[in-house]
Amino acid sequence: MPYIEGRVAFITGAGSGIGRAIALKLAVEGTTVVCSDIDIGGAQDTVTLIKETGGLALAEALDTSDETAVKEALEQVAQQHGRLDILINNAGVGGKDWETTNAINLSGVYYGLIHACPIMARQGGGAVVNTSSIAGVGAVSWAAEYHENTDLLGSLSAYTASKHGIIGLTKQFAVAFAKAGVRVNAICPGYIKTPIITELRSEKQQSFLESLHPMGRLGEPQEVAEVAAFLVSKAASFVTGAAVPVDGGYTAK
Ligand SMILES: NC(=O)c1ccc[n+]([C@@H]2O[C@H](COP(=O)([O-])OP(=O)(O)OC[C@H]3O[C@@H](n4cnc5c(N)ncnc54)[C@H](O)[C@@H]3O)[C@@H](O)[C@H]2O)c1
Repeated sequence: MPYIEGRVAFITGAGSGIGRAIALKLAVEGTTVVCSDIDIGGAQDTVTLIKETGGLALAEALDTSDETAVKEALEQVAQQHGRLDILINNAGVGGKDWETTNAINLSGVYYGLIHACPIMARQGGGAVVNTSSIAGVGAVSWAAEYHENTDLLGSLSAYTASKHGIIGLTKQFAVAFAKAGVRVNAICPGYIKTPIITELRSEKQQSFLESLHPMGRLGEPQEVAEVAAFLVSKAASFVTGAAVPVDGGYTAK
């Protein structure tokens, strides 16, 4: 994908799973990648993997629920590298309470958008991808089994609300910055083989999740990364405000 060579990207939650896969993909395509994560060890491991393939990357500790820290990190990238072309607002959590979930999943994405889009507009353009979910376009389908479990329903509701909110933010910022050359899109992954799925669910639970996808399997982080890379590239130059499913047909049912 020649269209993103020589660009500068900032990725949140780049220390694991989908964020790591997107970082590796952008780096292979010639982008310099700032890999941020609240888990600096994870971010450093991603940087090591990128450097092994000859790519350019650096690691940074960042908690996306801290607005001042997000603002400073983005301004620093623009200052140090002379530009900020790509933002991947990917950090997210599941299984947490309302406040924690929304502070990271929703406010964190908003902080990235509100502080990166003006930088991109001033330099003449840029592209953002926000990681939403199939839970951004519909409810978690198996929740009916657990309606009496207030803690579980609370965390599921928070996750679903935060991921729906990301799509609203995506549309709002896409429209606001369309004439400034900043494109803003969302990806909506189905269940993807990352630590939050493979380490926290039994084999039986994973087979159940596989059965929810018409393709009969979970997605690979790399399959999500391919779509994110397309959306930030010039190949997607007329795509903005979209929420793109990467879900093996889950939302088509
Ligand atoms: N795996 C799936 O099935 C799936 C499906 C749909 C959407 N998603 C979304 O994809 C994104 C990535 O998830 P993943 O599956 O790769 O999970 P993951 O747990 O493997 O990676 C998430 C990363 O985010 C980091 N993080 C957590 N809180 C943070 C914070 N406050 N600030 C900065 N970084 C923080 C973690 O340290 C971790 O490295 C999330 O937004 C998640 O909601 C995942």
